Amino acid sequence: MGHTLIKNANIVNEGTTFTGDVLIENDLIKSIANHIDAPEGCLTIDATGKYLLPGAIDDQVHFREPGLTHKANIATESKAAAAGGITTFIEMPNTIPQATTQELLEEKFTIAAKDSYVNYSFMFGGTNDNLEELLKTDPKKVAGIKLFLGSSTGNMLVDNPEVLEKIFASTNMVISTHCEDEQTIKNNLQAALDTYGEAIPIDQHPIIRSDKACYLSSSKAIELAKKTGARLHVFHLSTAMEMELFRNDIPLKDKKITAEVCVHHLSFDSSMYADKKTFIKWNPAVKTKDDQNALWEALLDDRIDVIATDHAPHTLEEKLNSYTKAPSGGPLVQHALPAMLNFVDEGKISIEKVVEKMCHNPAILFEIEKRGYIKENYYADLVLVDPTQKWTVNKDNILYKCGWSPFEGTEFSNTITHTFVNGNLIYNNGTFDDVTKGKRITFNR
Ligand code: DOR
Repeated sequence: MGHTLIKNANIVNEGTTFTGDVLIENDLIKSIANHIDAPEGCLTIDATGKYLLPGAIDDQVHFREPGLTHKANIATESKAAAAGGITTFIEMPNTIPQATTQELLEEKFTIAAKDSYVNYSFMFGGTNDNLEELLKTDPKKVAGIKLFLGSSTGNMLVDNPEVLEKIFASTNMVISTHCEDEQTIKNNLQAALDTYGEAIPIDQHPIIRSDKACYLSSSKAIELAKKTGARLHVFHLSTAMEMELFRNDIPLKDKKITAEVCVHHLSFDSSMYADKKTFIKWNPAVKTKDDQNALWEALLDDRIDVIATDHAPHTLEEKLNSYTKAPSGGPLVQHALPAMLNFVDEGKISIEKVVEKMCHNPAILFEIEKRGYIKENYYADLVLVDPTQKWTVNKDNILYKCGWSPFEGTEFSNTITHTFVNGNLIYNNGTFDDVTKGKRITFNR
């Protein structure tokens, strides 16, 4: 692999941006300085005018393999992730079979070792009856435990309160939750069916999967975490109401309860259902502009710790169904970082804050070893961005297996030109290294 020297980049790291050079040696960052002389035989990349960011770490994706590979697979989606500047993903257990035993979990690691363009980990799926198996999860080798406290694709609802309390009380690992109250949703859905019959309009989605459903479930999970001392990470927050549940008066590394927001909840709001229809149908639902404003406020004042995608592809055919039949979820890994950098251009967030929420904080939160920063001796997971090269998302440049994006027609002000994974140039201006694979990430626990 040897050396690669990145020259004159605007290096964004730990709250500041400075111009300098970064030398990669094999899979690690060897040195960072104002000026580095190129060692003999070294590949040199002139990054004048470009940003150099740590590779993004996406703590919530659904890559659909095994079992749902008509929607996506680890090879196709990790390739899209590489083009999108995501160098590490953490994948969810709602595949077929579900990752609810150690053996089934390890099978996913085996597929990723063979097929993934970027680094990877997987979450173990808790159910109503697999506590013994859950407790065998190795904290140094597996990202965490995922619990669906509201049902979504794959029916993995954990709704037995005693089991839930036992899980919370007996593991030290990060428990990541999908929080939506099932009974509230059922009641709201019935009311909508009574009014509209099967022809429920898509704009009823945030009324059916309501803010109260979210609050009820996330506040209960937090109460339980406080009672048991569990380490809880609440996924994909979507409501203003829930923001009071999180704190910003202590550093992330000391928090026992943390929060994630997803790019779609920051980008879309309920006024857009008329135009985008089921292509912005997610669980939890995209809610009102006021909810979105509250998410932004909490993100910027650090009540929300990380930005992720919840990348959840379904086929075009599936999404074109009527409201009740169209599955929830959409693909995002290729477009998440460009979308956040558009917000930088609009002045909504600084580039340093984007790096904190998409690169540093997932590494802190999951205690990931030697990733998430541009630091000497850390893995060279790096992304170069040209902030002047515009492009528009269309069917011809979408890399997801499902072939569509909720961002179709959107112009991004910036282009990711290079993505390094463990020092390897995996993505270079539209071309890929299809041979080198990512690594299983490890944890300092
Ligand atoms: O909209 C969603 N789709 N939310 C989830 O939490 C699951 C996901 C999926 O797997 O389709």
